[in-house]
Amino acid sequence: MVTLRPIRARDARQWSRLRLLNRAELEPWEPSGDVDWSRRHAVAQWHPLCASLRSQARSGSLVPLVIEVDGAYAGQITLGNISRGQLQSAWVGYWVDRSVTGRGVATTAVALAVDHAFGRLGLHRVEATVRPENAGSRAVLAHAGFREEGLLRRYLHVDGAWRDHLLVAITAEEVADSMVARVVRTGRARF
Ligand code: ACO
Repeated sequence: MVTLRPIRARDARQWSRLRLLNRAELEPWEPSGDVDWSRRHAVAQWHPLCASLRSQARSGSLVPLVIEVDGAYAGQITLGNISRGQLQSAWVGYWVDRSVTGRGVATTAVALAVDHAFGRLGLHRVEATVRPENAGSRAVLAHAGFREEGLLRRYLHVDGAWRDHLLVAITAEEVADSMVARVVRTGRARF
């Protein structure tokens, strides 16, 4: 079973362990860092990161969540840059531990997060940016019903260079019942 829950201070060890273990899978797709991956993901780094994410959550601009598979920490998913007023939008970003990939975990997590965005948060649009080369993540977004809207040239500094990203999005009108219902109906959840 896949569930989402808020991040916790006591996630430090699990976060560090999985981020270090999954370096080869994560680094090609994540924003470049100023310091080496190992130092950036030491257990002690979780505490300032967690405090910063929770502070943004309190201000209403971010929803940082842990993805659990059968109750165990298996990755994270975030709704970010939450804008109110006449936009009512957010982006979604995620990663999943390689020991549970290929079973619909990320697709289900995205469906749960988008249902939360359109339901409880009352947002109208969720978008995501993804490198064209990231076939796995593009499949996740397509399975969840996101549409391609364009190509952002040299959009984000990732893995040492400015990288093009596809912009994909979904709006509340495009979700008939719920995203989770759609993922279950289309057989995407295989855990
Ligand atoms: N080429 C083509 N398809 C692929 C590839 C590939 N190299 N790798 C995976 N896929 C497909 C799978 O077959 C599956 O499709 P299917 O259901 O039709 O078989 C789909 O991609 C993956 O779907 P899930 O099982 O729901 O996803 P999973 O739990 O395996 O997680 C993820 C995928 C998130 C990309 C994971 O591998 C990961 O964390 N990667 C590293 C970090 C990352 O890329 N994060 C996303 C950045 S972009 C963003 O956040 C918007």
